[in-house]
Amino acid sequence: MSRPVDAVIEFLQSEQAHGKSHVFLDDEARDGLRELFIRARKPVDVQPITDTEISAPRPIPQVSLVFEGADKPAKLASIKRQAANWMPARALDSLRETMVFAVGNPDAQIMFIGEAPGYHEEKEDQPFVGPAGQKLNDILKAMGLSREEIYLSNLVKFRPSIPKQTTNNRKPSPEEIAACLPLMMAEIDIVKPAIIIALGGNAAEGLLNLQGTMENMRGNWHHISGIPTIVTYHPSYLLQSGSNDVKRALWEDMLSVMEKLGLPISEKQRGFFLPKA
Ligand code: URA
Repeated sequence: MSRPVDAVIEFLQSEQAHGKSHVFLDDEARDGLRELFIRARKPVDVQPITDTEISAPRPIPQVSLVFEGADKPAKLASIKRQAANWMPARALDSLRETMVFAVGNPDAQIMFIGEAPGYHEEKEDQPFVGPAGQKLNDILKAMGLSREEIYLSNLVKFRPSIPKQTTNNRKPSPEEIAACLPLMMAEIDIVKPAIIIALGGNAAEGLLNLQGTMENMRGNWHHISGIPTIVTYHPSYLLQSGSNDVKRALWEDMLSVMEKLGLPISEKQRGFFLPKA
């Protein structure tokens, strides 16, 4: 059943396909959109789920990865090839078709791990290129690093799907994370970074089996295959919250990373996001 908002989305997509990046909204159109937004937020009647509708979790097919190649780039390329048709992920039937693999330096000292690609990442075939990616670029810049120096990956290599999906994204489920985890572990094994940064609670849960709030997960060094790992806020949470406390907390995590790696830290960098005296 198509929703009123689908017609709006279709119209905007067609305008975009014709090269338009802006549409003019008069007061009436603005009121109409506001009404659609309010309607979409109203709770819908939820039908109770009957026993017969509850299906058993799908068994994850057991597949082994083969590490081919003589050096890191060749080994990563072989994992990428196998990831494209990774049966444990495909068998779930809940992820989209396009695989978005990692980018960055196979010899990186720092590996950033997010949760899953979204609309922008799928379109550009690269992790962290949408608004969260822009925020991550800002964080890297403040650290004095470039994207070319780090390794950037996602736990789940396919965008989680939603019925009638347009630009909207959803978080990957624990099942989807578990299905893709061997790929991530292989990347960690090959790159062997000095430090891993898990971005957000979902990545922390999937990688380190941590539960609870971000406040509890942060502030400790964890280990993945013996590699020191820190958990911090996801850049998209930074965007959503806009809070200076969250910015400072994330920045303190990055200062800990820089200290552990022996990277130079200026007084100006130490003072970022501190309340002005
Ligand atoms: N969020 C993620 O976790 N990964 C991306 O690549 C983009 C947004």
